[in-house]
Amino acid sequence: MVVGLGFEPRKAFASRFTVCPVWPLRYPTAQKTFVNIAKTQLRVKGTIHFFDPRAKWRIDMSGKPCKSLRMNVALETLAGMLDKELSIDSFKDVSNNGLQIANNGTVTRVLAGVDASMRLLEEAAQRGADCVVCHHGLSWGDSLKRITGLNHRLVSFAIKNNIAVYAAHLPLDAQPVYGNNAQICKLLGLSKLESAFEYHGQKIGFKASFGKPMTLSSFCGLVRKRINSEIKLLDFGKPTIKTIGVVSGGAADMIDQASALGTDVYLTGEPSLQGYNLAEHLAINVVFAGHYATEKFGPRALSGLIKRRCKIQSEFVDFDIGY
Ligand SMILES: [Fe+2]
Repeated sequence: MVVGLGFEPRKAFASRFTVCPVWPLRYPTAQKTFVNIAKTQLRVKGTIHFFDPRAKWRIDMSGKPCKSLRMNVALETLAGMLDKELSIDSFKDVSNNGLQIANNGTVTRVLAGVDASMRLLEEAAQRGADCVVCHHGLSWGDSLKRITGLNHRLVSFAIKNNIAVYAAHLPLDAQPVYGNNAQICKLLGLSKLESAFEYHGQKIGFKASFGKPMTLSSFCGLVRKRINSEIKLLDFGKPTIKTIGVVSGGAADMIDQASALGTDVYLTGEPSLQGYNLAEHLAINVVFAGHYATEKFGPRALSGLIKRRCKIQSEFVDFDIGY
């Protein structure tokens, strides 16, 4: 929790002590009183950082600049860094990837999540985040052609609360370090990653392998432990596996590619009847580990990247949606 003492203390209290500029940095007594009130009367838990809108770095309770955390970063700088890391412009995608909604131009805190839902936006507002970074954004094709109904609710909430929305869909599936699929391969201990699984002419997943063969049931145990305890297994292939195809999310229609690549098991997110029939006909093992569960690792990795590169507060929120 970040606490600030504002020019107007009442405003500071009302905003749940998240993003109020500190004025009396030069007055240690005022700081101590404020901390006292925050901790005893308002039961604020955790580290309390003070910040001054004029300063470059946040100030910790000892009054020293905390050089691991900047005050803020320009939205343009943050979006530019992500665009470059994710090669945003090189993907043809129905998602309008990149910055979808701007804020006032400055980012002090980022909240990363899977979906740009009202839940994520509300969580961002509650935590004092002024930018959300997600995998499933708000703008798909011409989905924002009319800002009415649900579009209006989501867009107006973001703008009213000064929350920027940045989305990376296919670029975040394909990215070889921070991407959903690369992160899944890392979590499972896979090696020899090769970009594979074509979608509209671009490769979005990986073919990878384990150092040693393992039984299909050991593989399922590993997926349950590292990705999602709830999985669906189609065991139409060999009982011992070594090579894996990985495509996060809703990619059951790529089972034929997994088979053509000669993988022993295909790991994806969302199950489908079409996928069941494909797996049975092609005699291949398929593990469905959930659309949400397989697509949270990319946003989580991006949150860490933002923190390291931009040195601002950045966190990932897991709503643990079992779908
Ligand atoms: Fe998805």
